[in-house]
Amino acid sequence: MNNTRCPVVILISGNGSNLQAIMDASHDSAYEVVGVVSNRPEAYGLQRAASAGVPGAVVDHREYPDRESFEQALATTIDTWQPRLLVLAGFMRILTGGFVSRYSGRILNIHPSLLPAYRGTNTHQRVLDAGEREHGVSVHFVTEELDGGPVICQAAVPVTVGDDRDSLARKVATREHSIYPEAVDWFARGRLVMRDNAAFLDGRRLPESGVRLDPATD
Ligand code: GAR
Repeated sequence: MNNTRCPVVILISGNGSNLQAIMDASHDSAYEVVGVVSNRPEAYGLQRAASAGVPGAVVDHREYPDRESFEQALATTIDTWQPRLLVLAGFMRILTGGFVSRYSGRILNIHPSLLPAYRGTNTHQRVLDAGEREHGVSVHFVTEELDGGPVICQAAVPVTVGDDRDSLARKVATREHSIYPEAVDWFARGRLVMRDNAAFLDGRRLPESGVRLDPATD
């Protein structure tokens, strides 16, 4: 199966625990992680990639005068590996419409909230401040609209008494590491596509909140 596996490039900015989960699950999947790019040279995820024998590269946004030139360098690096799919895994740069359209329908992102609620940053604290009883994570296609592309799947976690930002982040991360590799595998198998600004799984248009994945059904 090795020769026919879907080549995937993963973009990171930091720890890379989702990168790790996706690499770990790749041995039993239809995809292969062929490269990792970080916009931060100190990102721990680069060490994770090296340990797994996956090539890594740094495209440091601070070395470019504007977003367009940064993204041009990013695309040049990505394209050396000729991926079919780009996976954003804690990649903390906003991408322009030009970059997104270059890889249209071929970029996934993971976001720590039950989209469309809580787009943007600092989601765990905002969920706590709002007194929510439920929080979670979404995997979605990337479009020009920030955190606004079609949702593919979600997993929920309960917010319980005594939760703080760190405990919520840990709960969410556990679910992230389960559902993200699964969504990448769906894409790799050709089961998941973006069409008319909607996500389709096995030919069926997914609802606004995507597929709900609970621990028992993962
Ligand atoms: C993850 O929780 C991911 O959902 C979040 O960054 C974290 C990266 O962790 N992404 C965003 O907030 C994107 N807006 P990791 O580096 O350990 O995978």
